[in-house]
Amino acid sequence: MTNTVLITGAAGWLGGLLSAQLINDPKTPDLRLILADIFEPKAPAASQSVLVKVDLSDKAQVETLFTTDYGIPDTIYCLHGIMSRGSEDNFDLGIKINVDSVRLLLEATRSYCKPSIKFIFTSSLAVYGGPLPDVVTSSTIATPQSSYGVGKLTSELMVNEYSRRGWVDGRIVRLPTILVRPGTPSNATSSFISAIIREPLKGLETVCPIGDSIDSPELTLKLWLASPETTIKNIVIAKHIPAEKLLSHTRVICLPGFTASVKDELDALLKVAGQNALDFVKFKDDPVNRRIVSSWPSAFDNAYSLSLGFIVDEGGMEPIVRRFRDNVAIGEA
Ligand SMILES: NC(=O)c1ccc[n+]([C@@H]2O[C@H](COP(=O)([O-])OP(=O)(O)OC[C@H]3O[C@@H](n4cnc5c(N)ncnc54)[C@H](O)[C@@H]3O)[C@@H](O)[C@H]2O)c1
Repeated sequence: MTNTVLITGAAGWLGGLLSAQLINDPKTPDLRLILADIFEPKAPAASQSVLVKVDLSDKAQVETLFTTDYGIPDTIYCLHGIMSRGSEDNFDLGIKINVDSVRLLLEATRSYCKPSIKFIFTSSLAVYGGPLPDVVTSSTIATPQSSYGVGKLTSELMVNEYSRRGWVDGRIVRLPTILVRPGTPSNATSSFISAIIREPLKGLETVCPIGDSIDSPELTLKLWLASPETTIKNIVIAKHIPAEKLLSHTRVICLPGFTASVKDELDALLKVAGQNALDFVKFKDDPVNRRIVSSWPSAFDNAYSLSLGFIVDEGGMEPIVRRFRDNVAIGEA
């Protein structure tokens, strides 16, 4: 049996990691990838892939994704999006991409009358905000405090509704903040969470927008985190979970993560790479950034996601910093 998988946002960070992970997934044999993005995506080596440059906010262009040489996909990974700071700075663009284009993709999927098509949507802990319990559970109500969170939650509701009606087999994975992101700083509010590890390990200065010095009390700000390696494995696992194992009233799964503070990150950097590395971190408090990050929850109950077979990082920040340091050393960061 062939597996035909469409990935939108395939030129993005997670899209690239996901296509590379899927071609090595023993549970996804004979994989054919349809890789779509507004920028030309890259095919993983030795893969069967079609690359589609597409603006997903355009209905006609969305429909072309179902008429490539590989035909109708049996799994769709909906990863394209405008990140948190971008959505906050440009409300209209954020809603157009994070809501309207997701709906176009859902509608195109629905039109093929194949309710077995898995529709896996990457959401975010940014759907939460306002007063929150110490530990967020599957029944905590999401009340976003950012345009990005509003966009994600709106699309989640649509994926849930299309699943309830039997039009798609939806799976919504709310991702923790993922670190360490390689490359250059992005326009996500969370960008600094990776940058304060990545840039010093590459010998570059970076500005931490939380607090004004290494001793600032603001650095105790807690974060809900996961490594890219674990997250990508979990995004693949999301495809394999039988629908009947999911809660009957929602397709939302908060992927497992762990809690660490900004200070914990810097302590791990100091331990792994020394004072010289830490000296590359400068501080300039940014109240807008801090307000948004502070509105995100920092602890979740992992019980439901672990019971479904998802995996979690062990050992906190240190192994993640070590792994990234090793990637820098071999030029893969
Ligand atoms: N990286 C994280 O820490 C994180 C955390 C939570 C959720 N997410 C979600 O995971 C998904 C992937 O994240 P990422 O870090 O890879 O993001 P990314 O910014 O690297 O990739 C997003 C991709 O979407 C594409 N895109 C945007 N508008 C488009 C359009 N109109 N048509 C076609 N393509 C378009 C961009 O070109 C980009 O390649 C996103 O939905 C994001 O919201 C990521």
